[in-house]
Formats: sequence, structure tokens, C-alpha cells
Amino acid sequence: EKGGYDYFMLKEIAEQPKAVADTLLGRIDASGSLTLDEVRIPVSVLREVDKVVIVACGTAYHAGMIAKYAIEHWTRVPCETELASEFRYRDPILDSRTLVIAVSQSGETMDTLMALRHAREQGAKVLAICNTNGSTIPRESDAVLYTHAGPEVAVASTKAFLTQLVACYLVALYLGQVRGTKWGDEIGTVIEELSEIGNEVEEVLGTMEPVRELARSLADKNTVLFLGRHVGYPVALEGALKLKELAYMHAEGFAAGELKHGPIALIEQDVPVVVVVPSPRGRSVLHDKIVSNIQEIRARGARTIVIAERGDETVHPYADHLIEIPRTPTLLQPLVATVPLQVFACELATARGNEVDQPRNLAKSVTVE
Ligand code: M6R
Repeated sequence: EKGGYDYFMLKEIAEQPKAVADTLLGRIDASGSLTLDEVRIPVSVLREVDKVVIVACGTAYHAGMIAKYAIEHWTRVPCETELASEFRYRDPILDSRTLVIAVSQSGETMDTLMALRHAREQGAKVLAICNTNGSTIPRESDAVLYTHAGPEVAVASTKAFLTQLVACYLVALYLGQVRGTKWGDEIGTVIEELSEIGNEVEEVLGTMEPVRELARSLADKNTVLFLGRHVGYPVALEGALKLKELAYMHAEGFAAGELKHGPIALIEQDVPVVVVVPSPRGRSVLHDKIVSNIQEIRARGARTIVIAERGDETVHPYADHLIEIPRTPTLLQPLVATVPLQVFACELATARGNEVDQPRNLAKSVTVE
């Protein structure tokens, strides 16, 4: 049932191009518009939404963080992403014009379920993004957009994460479409790029041998740091979470802009730092700032592992290890930038002799608080 792979995690990483394509299937029509009829929240209600709040835990929370950038950019509706376990104990301000999005692979995560119950009690509409048909979270929501990742067995979430991202982008673009925001043209282009993104994920998977080799060479390290900015920041957090749960290493993700506010003190000789570099096109200011960050940490001895767009030569002089990813629109970059980090964590776990599919102390679905 592992399909010839040693671990479910490896199989699930390899299934990502298909999972992504399946999640898009039937949701983009021939004219390039989105058809999310299954989102049973009436268009009239979606047009009136004045705030979006995303609640989730763990990896699903990282997908939600990325969704915030997409929703605010494409819809101009304020959006907050919150850990479900914090949200419900905080007396959040919600009303009938708030759209709450609950993201969960299992559909059974207790904190996320409690958060959505709380939101509905306050009159908010709840849309679930979920991978498990008929599970509790979609059953208790006003509407559901299913991710079609197929069953995810490994405790560490991989293909579910990529499909959660796709679903979040679809919701963001759909909200933009029904609200007719000024990004009309850009939305059309992004939908086109999104429909091709499975091929790019496939391409990344074909270039992972050097990443595995690098991971094996770091098996005796104690710490790995991750830096990112904009949508690369949640990618950094996700890379660190994968490494914690699988390799049992100290791993931390930081917003690169925060470096000088503390984390740079952690940089010492030979500490591996993975840096997710935004596209030099699009938000090029951020690109240049992150290139300076790489220079700064390298000058202090860090061993830099740079994930950058193919052809981005500005990073070459400062990258001890370069991981190239295909060109994508900035907001979609997490779909390709996360994949090497999954492979990296899985290989490090194996090299350290850890149980990949069943990491210690963890459960696939956290149905207790
Ligand atoms: O089933 P859910 O998506 O609600 O689960 C949320 C988290 O428990 C989950 O993503 C967890 O962080 C994973 N083990 C991460 O790989």
C-alpha cells in the first residue's frame, strides 16, 4: 500500500502533483473563471463580507497564513489568520459579515472545531477547507470546499498542505471574482498559472537528489534556522515544523525582517540557515532585502541553504547550497518552495534513524485540546 516507497510520507510527497491537479479539477471552467458552486454560501453574502478570519492548527495554520496574503491582495478584504487554540479563548469580534475559514486535513481537530462553533454562535458564516469527506468540521460548517489530496497517512502533512494552499487560492480568487475587485486581469492570469502548477511541482520533485544529499550531511547538527519573507515566511515556519516533528531537531522559522530584532544573535559558525527567496520579479524590493540578509548571516558564519527562483543569479555568490525552483507568481511560490523542505526533513529524519511516518509523541489527528 506504500506503492513501492519506504514510507507513506515519501509516497505522499510524490503524489503532490496529482493532489494539486485533483483539487483544481472541475473548479476552473473553459473560459478561465472559477466555478465554486459547491461553496453554498450565496454570492450575495460573499459580496457583503467585510472581514475574513482563518482558523487552523499546525501545518493547516501555515496554509492559512499564506491565504491571508492572497485574500487581502486579491479581494482587498481585511483578513486575519489565527491559531484555533488562541482564537476561541480570546473573545474575538465577529458578526454576520465575517467569513470564517476553518482549514483542517482531518476535519476532526478539536481546537479548530471549537473555534468554528464559537464563530457560528456569534453569527459568522463558516467555510471549511477540509480533506476528509463527511468529517465533523465540514458537517458543522455552512459550506465546505474539499481538498482532493486523497488519504494522508503519514503524521507529517505534505500533500494535504499543498492542496490546502490550492483551496485557499481558489477561495481568494473566487472572492475576488464575485466582488469584482480591481485585480480582474491579474486574477485571470493567476488562475491560468495555477492550473499549470502541478507540472511545476513535478519538476521540483525531479531535482531533489542534491537536497537529500545535503540533508544527510547535516544529520549531526543540533539546529537549523529558516528565514522567509512575505509568503516565504509561513514557508519557513512550515520547513521548521517539519524538521521538528520528523528529525527532532531544534528548528525555528523567522520573518527575515525580524533578524536584527533578535534572531541574528543565534547565527554562529556553520549553523545551517535555509532562506526562502522571493521572486526577483514582482515584489523585487523584498527580494533585494532578503539577498542582503543572506549576505549578513553568511558574513557571521552561517552555512546558507538558499531556495531561489531558477535564473536568479544575484543569490549565487552567497549560497553555500542552492536549491532552484521554477518561476511562479509571487503568491503561488509556496506551492513549489515547500516541496524541497518536505524532502529535506524526511531525509534528515531517515538519516537520524527516526520513524518517519509515526514521529514520537504525535498523532495524525489531534482530537483533544
Ligand atoms: O487535521 P488538521 O489539518 O486539522 O491537523 C492540524 C495539525 O495537527 C497538523 O497539521 C500537524 O501540525 C501536522 N502533523 C503537521 O505536519
